[in-house]
Amino acid sequence: MSASPAAPSATKPPVTVLGLGLMGYALADALLTAGHRVTVWNRTAAKAAPLVERGALLAPSVREALEAGPLTIACLLDYDTQRALLEPAAGALHGRTLVSLTNGSPAQARETESWALALGARYVDGGIMAVPHQIATPEAFLFYSGAQDPFDEHRTTLSVLGTPHYLGPEVDVASLYDLALLSGMDMMFAGFFHATAVATSHKGTTASDFAPHLVTWLTSMLGMVPLMAADIDSSGPPAYSQTLDLVRAAARNMGDAAREAGVRADHFDRTVAELDGRIAAGETEYTASTAVDRLRVPARG
Ligand SMILES: NC(=O)c1ccc[n+]([C@@H]2O[C@H](COP(=O)([O-])OP(=O)(O)OC[C@H]3O[C@@H](n4cnc5c(N)ncnc54)[C@H](OP(=O)(O)O)[C@@H]3O)[C@@H](O)[C@H]2O)c1
Repeated sequence: MSASPAAPSATKPPVTVLGLGLMGYALADALLTAGHRVTVWNRTAAKAAPLVERGALLAPSVREALEAGPLTIACLLDYDTQRALLEPAAGALHGRTLVSLTNGSPAQARETESWALALGARYVDGGIMAVPHQIATPEAFLFYSGAQDPFDEHRTTLSVLGTPHYLGPEVDVASLYDLALLSGMDMMFAGFFHATAVATSHKGTTASDFAPHLVTWLTSMLGMVPLMAADIDSSGPPAYSQTLDLVRAAARNMGDAAREAGVRADHFDRTVAELDGRIAAGETEYTASTAVDRLRVPARG
């Protein structure tokens, strides 16, 4: 349940939120609770009703939403949706700040910044590292990048949503970090799903039985991340190293265990094939640096 909003404050700047999906709603709700005058717009206007009951203003159009104040936070399905909504009202962005918290690629961040600057707007790109119920709690953090002046000007307002990490004036860095973290999360969940499929092939083992073991194991392994990161950054001898023979043997075992459990083993088959190639080429050592290097696509000459 939402907290009661503080009375809109004369000292807290007004904010517009475009998009009241699960995340946009949580953002608007948090700003309202913090005492900002919040103007909202959403394609499905009915979603605004509980916010309006608590004091938010529902703008009848995107243009009027933009015109309601100096700062608009957009949180929509994707950048195509965002642009399609903003384009017809683009003139209203002149002299105002647009902060996009819509998830998008670094290229979309660069393109949106150019578009916004050409309109005389100020633009900050952001990435939300939280799920809606974490907004405005200590777990929530957000990346921002782009022009520093508008970020500094609105930092206090943006801090309501979660801890802001400003990553500098290159506008595409926030989305790069955001998508890198999402990629890590995606692969972690893929690992959880695979491990669970394997473990629950044992009759009588449920996912809930197995999950605490996985959590303990992954938590312990997370302690290695900073050590491996230091290895990747260093040109000296690595602190973490295994032989490729050992890593290949483990990958074969993981593939065989999956097959035996009736679970797809294609990830491990690809890993074994890749390691076969490296071993055949004379490589012997598996380190964090070589693991990262092997992921890089060679630049086209
Ligand atoms: N949910 C999360 O956990 C989470 C976490 C981090 C970042 N994000 C990012 O936040 C953004 C919004 O996510 P969400 O969870 O709020 O998604 P959502 O619940 O699916 O909401 C999507 C929003 O986009 C609007 N929309 C979709 N298609 C539209 C169209 N053709 N024209 C106009 N409006 C349209 C929806 O309007 P209607 O209400 O009218 O459908 C709604 O406001 C996404 O970029 C997402 O990646 C979400």
